[in-house]
Amino acid sequence: MIPFGDPSASYQAHKSEIDQAIRRVLDSGWYVLGTEVDVFEKEFASFHGKDLHAVGVANGTDAIALCLRGLALGTGDEVITPSHTAVATVAGIEQAGCTPAFADIDPSTRCISPDSIKERVGGNTRAIMPVHIYGQPAEMNRILEIAKAHKLAVVEDCSQAHGAEIDGKKVGTFADISAYSCYPTKNLGGTGDGGMILCRSKEFAEKIKSLRQYGWNEARESITPGFNSRLDELQAAILRVKLQHLADDNDKRRKIALRYNQAFQDLPITIPALNENELHAMHLYVIEYDRRNELMAHLRSHQIGASLHYPLAVHQHSAYAHRIRGGNNLPFTDLFYQRNLTLPMYPELSNDAVEHIISTVLNWFQEKN
Ligand SMILES: Cc1ncc(COP(=O)(O)O)c(C=O)c1O
Repeated sequence: MIPFGDPSASYQAHKSEIDQAIRRVLDSGWYVLGTEVDVFEKEFASFHGKDLHAVGVANGTDAIALCLRGLALGTGDEVITPSHTAVATVAGIEQAGCTPAFADIDPSTRCISPDSIKERVGGNTRAIMPVHIYGQPAEMNRILEIAKAHKLAVVEDCSQAHGAEIDGKKVGTFADISAYSCYPTKNLGGTGDGGMILCRSKEFAEKIKSLRQYGWNEARESITPGFNSRLDELQAAILRVKLQHLADDNDKRRKIALRYNQAFQDLPITIPALNENELHAMHLYVIEYDRRNELMAHLRSHQIGASLHYPLAVHQHSAYAHRIRGGNNLPFTDLFYQRNLTLPMYPELSNDAVEHIISTVLNWFQEKN
């Protein structure tokens, strides 16, 4: 079966550098929050631009919660976010004690719709958390305007969009604070859990560094109630290697997406938009089609690991159904979840595999329509 993503192929592609990095950490005898994390934080920040600060944490969900806690948001403070995201976005908001509210998506970007955000802003709204879903940048300029008008904080969830850009500017640098997951399947993924926070203010970064380790100051006195969300040295060392290849790997993803888009352009399906002024990180290649279950079964019978991302929007999970404001009025999200289908996408996907996937899709349309 050709998988939809393949972290082991990423390891194999960069094996000798990763093996060296692992050995370096094992030999160092220092395994959590050390030199590798320090250097990775600096490299991650400068990858995104000048005068930025990055803080390594244990995973992306914690990164989201810590961003909100760092902003001193908590009980009673509402954060508007899309329901079309990983459950983790909403779990992170609730982990911080905040209240999520859902806005709908824009069908052309599949990201949170600025118009829907405007409709949802209420008396308790304190922040907007856009998600650059599948690697597609959300409409950050419009979102920042809305935030300014209503005096709201913005935290970008960049977990699926490491390296994506709008007009030459990296996502994660539009808001003052951004959260990233470095879970193995991500465009910048380790071999275990990991997360990053990117911010403009040194003071904010220092605050997060304290919160991630029991709220300690330099004398190891807890000056605020914190928790344990440390990044380990092995993940940081591996992520340092992966960061060097990120731009190149994202280019490979985009080339595959272009090939898919060209092949599928005349089919009765919706293909991802590859806008000229943007760099799509192409974390997942997702099409929309009315008969996607039949097409998925056909692809799977030809050893192609087509799948659903996600099978349910967050408001459709029993843990979140009927209790989150806005969840009963998400028509574009609901429609998307009847039609979405993910095709294999990762930098190491071979030309032969891409051509096999394309011809299997085209054959299905020739036979069925
Ligand atoms: C959009 C989004 N936000 C947040 C997360 C949370 O990341 P993690 O699994 O590292 O906690 C993920 C990853 O699953 C994600 O895709």
